[in-house]
Amino acid sequence: MKPLSDIATRLRLASGLVLMAFVAGHLVNHALTLHSLEAVSAGRVVFSAVWRSLPGTILLYGALLIHIALSLFKLYQRRRLRMPLWEMGQIALGLAIPFWLVLHVLGTRAVHELFGVNDSYLLQFGWVWGGNASGMTIMLLLVWAHGCVGLHFWLRIRPWYAAVRPYLMAMALVMPVMALAGFHLGGREIQAIAEHDPNWLARIAAEQNWPDDNVQSWIQAWEGRVLGGLILLLAVVVMARMLRDFRERAAGQVEISYIDGSSVSIEPGMTVLDGSRLAGIAHAAVCGGRGRCSTCRVRIGAGADHLPPPADDELKVLNRIGASDRIRLACQLRPMQALEVAPLLPATAGPASSRVQVDPAAGVEREVAVLFADLRAFTRMAEGRLPFDVVFILNQYFKAMGAAIEDTGGRVDKFIGDGIMALFGIDAAPSVACRQALLAAKAMAHRLEDLNQDMKADLPEPLRIGMGLHVGPVILGEMGYHRATSLTAIGDPVNVASRLETLTKDFNAQLVVSAHLARRAGLDLGAFESQDIDIRGRQRPLRVHIVADAASLPGSNDEWRQSTLPRFSVSSLFPRIKR
Ligand code: FES
Repeated sequence: MKPLSDIATRLRLASGLVLMAFVAGHLVNHALTLHSLEAVSAGRVVFSAVWRSLPGTILLYGALLIHIALSLFKLYQRRRLRMPLWEMGQIALGLAIPFWLVLHVLGTRAVHELFGVNDSYLLQFGWVWGGNASGMTIMLLLVWAHGCVGLHFWLRIRPWYAAVRPYLMAMALVMPVMALAGFHLGGREIQAIAEHDPNWLARIAAEQNWPDDNVQSWIQAWEGRVLGGLILLLAVVVMARMLRDFRERAAGQVEISYIDGSSVSIEPGMTVLDGSRLAGIAHAAVCGGRGRCSTCRVRIGAGADHLPPPADDELKVLNRIGASDRIRLACQLRPMQALEVAPLLPATAGPASSRVQVDPAAGVEREVAVLFADLRAFTRMAEGRLPFDVVFILNQYFKAMGAAIEDTGGRVDKFIGDGIMALFGIDAAPSVACRQALLAAKAMAHRLEDLNQDMKADLPEPLRIGMGLHVGPVILGEMGYHRATSLTAIGDPVNVASRLETLTKDFNAQLVVSAHLARRAGLDLGAFESQDIDIRGRQRPLRVHIVADAASLPGSNDEWRQSTLPRFSVSSLFPRIKR
C-alpha cells in the first residue's frame, strides 16, 4: 500500500492538471475576443457546456478543493520552511490566488447557480472593465504563473522535456498575452458601445438577470466569509506544525554526519535533505524533494541498520537508477537514530543527472561520447584585468556553454580552469549520445557568437574555443575525496577527446571530431577535411574530421534534436509549428 504522502502528491498533481486545463480553456476563450465578440460568446457556450455540466462541475470543483486541501497538507508536512527560491515563489503565488479568485467565482458561477444570472462574456466584460479590470488581470497572471511553474518543475526531469521546452515556454507566454489582449479589446469595445448607448449595459444586465444591490451585498459578504475561512485554515495548519515541532523537539534530536566531517542535529521525522538545508550544506534536489528526480541520493554509512525500508515510490526511483541497498533518497529518508551519509551527486547536478542509471559507488562500464572544450588564449586575455572581471567573463562563458550542453542532453562533468569536460550517453544509446555531442558542439559555437556580441564592450577580442569529441567505453563512477567527490568518467575515450581538443590549436580549427563518433551518429562529415593522427598509447592512427567552424556542422538543430527524442517528435506534438 502506498504511503499517504505519495497518494497526496499524485492527487495534487492530477488536480493541478485539471485546473490548468480549465484555465487554459479560459485563456483561449478570452483570446477569441481578438476575432470578435460573437466568437468569444460562441466559445463561451462550448466552455460552459464542458465545465458546467455535472461531470465537469464535479471534476473542476473537486479538483479545486483537493488542490487547496493537499497544498495545506503539504505545508503541514514540510519540516522546514527553508526552500529554493522557485518553490517559495510558487507557494506565494498559490497563497495569493484565493484573494483574487473568490470574488470572480462568486460573481460568475455562484450567482448563475443561485440567482439564475446569465453571466455572459458581454456582461462580464461590461462590469469588469468598468470596475475591476486590473484585479482580473492580476488573477489571471497569478493562476497561470502558478500552474506553469508547477508544470515546469514536474516535467523538467523528463528526458524529452529539453527538446519541447522552448515551444511550451512560448505557449506559456503567448497564451496569457493573447488572452489579456482579448480581454482589453473586449472591454474597450463594450465601453464604446456603452458610451454610444448609455442604457445598453443596464438593458443587457436586465435581460441576463444581473442581480440587484442585495445580491451584490451577498457576494461581498460571502467573499469575506470564504477568505476568512481560508485564513482560518491556514492558521490551523501553522498551529498544527508548531505543535508537532514542539512534540518532536521534546522527543530528542537525531545527528546526521556527512562524509566531509560536517554534521547537523535534526528532529526525528525530518528528512536528511531537510537536515542538509538546515545546516546550509549544498545538496542537489532537482525535483525539490518530491522523491522523483533521484539527484538527492546519498550513500549510507553507519546507522543503516536502524533505517525504515524505502516506501514503494522511493524504491521505484532507486530501482530506476540501479542503486544498491546502501543508496537512499535524502528527501524521503527520515532517520530516527544517528546516521552517516554521503551525498552522491554534486550540488549543481541538473535534470540530466536524474537519469544517471548507475550506482556511482560501484562504478559501471558504459559507452559515452566525451566532449572537451577549452578557451583559446584566455590566460593572456586575463592578464592585467581585475580578478572580478575575469571571474565575471568566465562565469558568463560557463553559463552559456553549460546550458548548451544540458539543452542537448549532455551533462557537464567538470570545469577545469577555463576548460569544460562533458559526457553524453549516461542515459541514452551511444548513437543518440554521438548526435547529442555534435549538436552540443554546434550549439556551443552559436552561443559563443551570441556571447561575444553581448560582451563586445567587455572583451578586448572575441572569445575563441577549441573542442574535441570522441566516443567509446569508459568507466563511470563516483570518484574523489570528501567534498571533491563526484560522478565522472575515466578511460581511453576521455584521454582521446582531450587530445583532440588540444589538436584544434595545431589545425587552427574550432572542432576536431573522431570519424568513429561521426559514424556512430550516422552523419556524413565527408565535406570536412580528414586526417589520420597518431595518439600516444594507441597502436593505430585515429581518423579525425577537422571542422573550422562548428556552427557549420550539417543538419538543423531541430532535425538532430528530434532524432534524440525517445518516443515522439516535436512535430507530432505541434504539427502546425513551421520549421
Ligand atoms: S530531491 Fe528529487 S528525489 Fe529527492
